[in-house]
Amino acid sequence: MSAPTLIHAPSDFRAACEAVRRSGARLGLVPTMGALHDGHLALVRHARACGAGKVALTIFVNPLQFAPHEDFDRYPRTLEADLARCRDEGVDLVFAPGRDAMYPPGFQSRVEVTGVTSRFEGAHRPGHFAGVTTVVAKLFGLAGPCVAAFGRKDYQQWKTIERMALDLDLPADVRGMDIVREAGGLAMSSRNRYLAPEERQRALGIAEGLRRAHAAFASGERDPERLAAAALAEIGPRVSSVDYVAVADADTLEPIARVEERAVVLVAARIGKTRLIDNTVLGEDAPPKR
Ligand code: PAJ
Repeated sequence: MSAPTLIHAPSDFRAACEAVRRSGARLGLVPTMGALHDGHLALVRHARACGAGKVALTIFVNPLQFAPHEDFDRYPRTLEADLARCRDEGVDLVFAPGRDAMYPPGFQSRVEVTGVTSRFEGAHRPGHFAGVTTVVAKLFGLAGPCVAAFGRKDYQQWKTIERMALDLDLPADVRGMDIVREAGGLAMSSRNRYLAPEERQRALGIAEGLRRAHAAFASGERDPERLAAAALAEIGPRVSSVDYVAVADADTLEPIARVEERAVVLVAARIGKTRLIDNTVLGEDAPPKR
């Protein structure tokens, strides 16, 4: 495979994306913060499966979506390794802008989605989603018409971006891709590299909790509180603290009185200093594999 074209300047990225479309290919867009793992690379394949002839992957650790006490400074930055993985995957363009290129002095805009961001990650990480939607709106603006692949690992983020594209008539066809898990069921995440071996073992309790919710659902339980309690019983004792384990409407993320056909189980928990999120859709996804 040939190396992807590495682009740093937003104006060059815009021109390269336009060139892709002029060549007659559909453009695939895969926004990431780097520290690429197999979940990110599966998004590249997913974009192709959704019709992209050429794929642009973006790497930008977006300061706007981290609160001051969060892990922005220690977030892994592995550009050389990321570029090698992109080359092996046949990624065509890599856009890796510097902070000032994305947020030059004088930058004062925010794109904010309400409603779907009000609970869960939105409640526990104030300002986080406005940071995400602002940077993704910028990426959509630079890339232009494209099929944009997002992971369901960040379920609320995917739903939020879908909503933003719809509400603001952005020319991105937003697609969600299933969660890629490690053996044992741990959802892949750039933050997994913070985990010590013993913590990684405890982190498996999260997938186990999701399996418990599936098992309860399979045996006929339809009460959201009881389904969440089944997951929490497994997760609670294994993690350091739980931000939430909840069952919600799979499209709006609103509370529900009863699960009809499908519902999402959302989890955020800390193991030591590392905060992990995971989810599964009852009535749609298979339980995480062991
Ligand atoms: P990041 O955490 O790097 O994730 C980039 C994309 O990869 C997101 O769409 C995320 O959902 C997806 N992803 C990560 N782990 C995955 C897994 N195990 N299975 C499936 N998909 C997975 O999410 C972000 O970056 C940022 O918020 C971003 C959208 C780039 C905006 O800054």
